[in-house]
Parts: sequence; C-alpha cells; structure tokens
Amino acid sequence: MTDTTAVCRRLVGRTAVVTGAGSGIGLATVRRLAAEGAHVVCADVDAERGEAAAAEVGGRYAHTDVTDAEQVEALFRTAHDTYGSVDIAFNNAGISPPDDDSILTTGLDAWQRVQQTNLTSVYLCCKAVIPYMRRQGKGSIINTASFVAVMGAATSQISYTASKGGVLAMSRELGVQFAREGIRVNALCPGPVNTPLLKELFAKDPERAARRLVHVPAGRFAEPEEIAAAVAFLASDDSSFVNAAGFLVDGGISGAYVTPL
Ligand SMILES: NC(=O)c1ccc[n+]([C@@H]2O[C@H](COP(=O)([O-])OP(=O)(O)OC[C@H]3O[C@@H](n4cnc5c(N)ncnc54)[C@H](O)[C@@H]3O)[C@@H](O)[C@H]2O)c1
Repeated sequence: MTDTTAVCRRLVGRTAVVTGAGSGIGLATVRRLAAEGAHVVCADVDAERGEAAAAEVGGRYAHTDVTDAEQVEALFRTAHDTYGSVDIAFNNAGISPPDDDSILTTGLDAWQRVQQTNLTSVYLCCKAVIPYMRRQGKGSIINTASFVAVMGAATSQISYTASKGGVLAMSRELGVQFAREGIRVNALCPGPVNTPLLKELFAKDPERAARRLVHVPAGRFAEPEEIAAAVAFLASDDSSFVNAAGFLVDGGISGAYVTPL
C-alpha cells in the first residue's frame, strides 16, 4: 500500500475537483492529491462526509449532486473562483444499487437512475470543466469507469455495466477531440476494491467472495489507495503522453485466463 506521507509532490499549486469525495476511491484520492500539493475541491451529496474530507486536507467542500447540470456548473465555477484554475477533474461519483441486477429483473427506474448518476454525470462534469481547461490550454480529466467496461459478468448489474462502457467510450472521444488543446481525458478502470460494503457482503457470503477472487491473478482486491495512486499519476505531468486511454488498474483480471492456485 502507498504511504501518502512519503509521496512525491507533482501537483503543487494545481487545483483538483473530486466528485464522490466523501468515501472510498474518492476519499483516498482527495488525500493523495492533497499530499502531492494540490488544492482539492471535494464534491459530494453527503455533506457530512464531503465536509470531513475537505477539512482533513484543508480543501473546500462543494455540495453537489452530479446529476444536476446547474450544481455541476457551480462546482467548477467555485473551484476556479477559489483557486484561480481547474487543472484536474476526477469525475468519480457513482452508484451500484441492488435493484440494478439481471436485465430480466431490472426496471426502467433503476436503469435510468444508474445511467444518470454514473454516465450523465460524467457528461455534465466534462461539459462544465472543458471550457476552463481550453482557456488555460491544459488540463487532465480522469473519469471513473470500471473493469466491467471491458469484461462481461454473469453476475450482472446491467445498467452499471452499460454506464461504465459509456464512460469509457466518451472519455476516449473527448481525449481525441481536445488533445491539441493540451487537455488529456482518460477513463480509469479499477478492478474490485476492498470497500467496507464489499467486505461486509463477502464476510456474510464466502462463496460469493471466492467466485470473484478466483479471477484475480493478484489473489486479492485493490485497496482504495492503490487506485488513488493511479489517479495521481494520470493527473500529473508524468502521464503527459497518456491520453484517450482505458487505464486498467485491475490486478491483472482482464488479462487472465487461468490464475495461480
Ligand atoms: N468499489 C469498487 O470495487 C469499484 C470498482 C470499479 C469502479 N468503481 C467506481 O468507482 C467510483 C467510486 O466508487 P467507491 O467504491 O469509492 O464508491 P463509494 O460508494 O464508497 O463512494 C461514492 C461516493 O459518491 C457519492 N455520490 C453518490 N451519488 C452522488 C451524486 N449524485 N452526486 C454526488 N456524489 C454522489 C456518495 O455519497 C459517496 O460518497 C464509482 O464510480 C464506482 O462505480 C468502484
């Protein structure tokens, strides 16, 4: 695991916006980007957790529902007006509710809710931030997709998977369109991450955990800090030639046929 007290300082003076900042991958990334020197604007619908994240790193909380166009525009305006630039957008907020399941049982309501939160939100965030980055002539956008954007699962979450495929394709297209204006857009594709929810689910049902773990060459799920380290790389100039990529951080899942015993 990464020790954030010992990280390099690649982002000094830059401004980063993180959505879904209050928990999981978002929270680990807030900590990592701040440790590398960035000003971080923490966006979430959960005020308590979002405020705590911002307070911890001396950043700013912006209460934002990422499915609402006006709130998303206000988020990036706040970042720009507070710190003078918007250099990094980590569009990460997402949901995976239990009523999004097999196509046979998933209703239109669940389908649309997941599409709004996971895909429309990324469209809104990119649409809002790109004009700032065009004026600056630089910027790095990292959109959270998932390894399920490139692999099928028999344990289906149909709208979630479709939304992440959309994030991957949209990020590629934007990365290509704006490449000559100094803006990079990449889709981060994490493998399964060791979140409290996942831990609880698998503690209750070891067979369910085993069914998934057998596909991971690394033999374990990722820690949020390992995903955050990849975001920091994509945000920094160390990744200056990484653009329009589906950036897999999946412990080798998508490359595996037979895994070690
Ligand atoms: N955890 C995994 O195994 C995994 C794997 C691959 C991809 N992902 C993706 O990574 C991202 C983060 O996942 P996580 O596991 O850290 O989730 P999490 O549930 O721990 O955190 C998500 C955060 O997003 C916020 N949020 C939800 N809806 C929002 C909205 N409408 N507006 C603003 N904020 C909202 C929540 O309040 C929460 O703080 C998601 O896009 C998820 O799909 C997760």
